[in-house]
Amino acid sequence: MSGQRFVIHGDFISTPDPGEVRIHENAYITVEGGKVSGIEKERPDTGPDVTFIDYKGKLIIPGFSDVHLHAVQYVTRGLGYDKELLPWLNDYTFPEESRFQDPAYGERVFNDVVHDLWASGTLHCAIFSSLHTDASILLMEKFAKAGLSAYVGKVNMDRNSVEELQETTEESIRETERFLEAARPYEERGILPILTPRFAPSCSDELMRWLGDKAMETGLPVQSHVNENQGEIAWVRELFPQSNNYLAVYEDFDLLPQSRTIMAHCIHNSEDEMQMFLDKDVLVAHCPDSNANLASGIMAAGEMIDRGIRVGLGSDIGGGNRLFIGHAIESAMRLSRLLWAESDHAYRTITFAEAFHMATAGGGSFFGKTGAFLPGYSFDALVVDDSRFTRYRPLSVFERLQKFVFAGDDRQIEARYRGGEFLPLPDFD
Ligand code: GUN
Ligand code: FE
Repeated sequence: MSGQRFVIHGDFISTPDPGEVRIHENAYITVEGGKVSGIEKERPDTGPDVTFIDYKGKLIIPGFSDVHLHAVQYVTRGLGYDKELLPWLNDYTFPEESRFQDPAYGERVFNDVVHDLWASGTLHCAIFSSLHTDASILLMEKFAKAGLSAYVGKVNMDRNSVEELQETTEESIRETERFLEAARPYEERGILPILTPRFAPSCSDELMRWLGDKAMETGLPVQSHVNENQGEIAWVRELFPQSNNYLAVYEDFDLLPQSRTIMAHCIHNSEDEMQMFLDKDVLVAHCPDSNANLASGIMAAGEMIDRGIRVGLGSDIGGGNRLFIGHAIESAMRLSRLLWAESDHAYRTITFAEAFHMATAGGGSFFGKTGAFLPGYSFDALVVDDSRFTRYRPLSVFERLQKFVFAGDDRQIEARYRGGEFLPLPDFD
């Protein structure tokens, strides 16, 4: 359908900028070549070659972007949340990730992960696989089958892991080359590789140097973790005494390519690091569920927004427990309200529209023009049937969106479109 023109009718709402709410109630969007070409109050004249799709009375919202999660932690999400980051990694996460050496195991788990992303309305994501190349390619294959777009990372880690999840520096380099080569055919379907040093403690200087050179030479994007936990930060200081701070470790190895970097967590930042997020146009992946579950802390999202730093939301499965990004919106708001209250109002709360922006246009900015209903933007949308919320009293379109996020769930998503294409239930045979 993406090459064709069609007109879609419903109640549209999106947040093109942080805090800006745009509503087109009972309106008509024309989609041409997969992109929004017009938004009108009246039904446009349509000839026989134009399909008309009527979602009268339905809420139509941008598809979600999840800018940080781990496919290989889907099975262990919800486990070990009485630990902090480093013991949680060693006791639960690393042993589980080692199981992805077996492609048959990867096949079973990834069918569920990608199906559930589709079901949750997450049409774009930046996702970590494990260090296993074959599993990482299999994950790309699943995204291709589902019609979702994704940045997929084969994880690099050549030190400080458990015995069953280790690669040597040479293996890590060789396998990354193999991964990049095998990823090529997926590019035209919007499934792209991303360089993924797990976090600074997992990578030797030599591996970091090689990855940074690769990022510079190829233009590939980078994703990693930073400033999540105080113990982790102290450890990084010991491991990289020559760098000014944790974020600077990545910068010192050329691993913060301009406008092509996602950094997850970003909770405990110095002034220099805040400035570097801005200067390098890093997309900060705010992961509120994970940050609460692992007692990591509360990221000051309002301050990030006020400084003009790009922020998206991450489910961070399995530090986070829920895939539905509506849940991350809820948690981002809750944590910001607690931070405001507990800091004697030193930090401001974020608005609903700011949190919704992170989940759509904010995170979406990493994937091109997506996450809002503006001319020229990819038509990436979810049709939500919220009739059970409006039968008792009328609600404005903005109130309906809030009800969907806070009181609804993904079972209300009736249809999904990416690049103007209707996305049917993925068929993994
Ligand atoms: N830091 C390094 N690896 C991980 C991980 O898998 N999850 C989280 N939350 N933080 C990390
Ligand atoms: Fe993570």
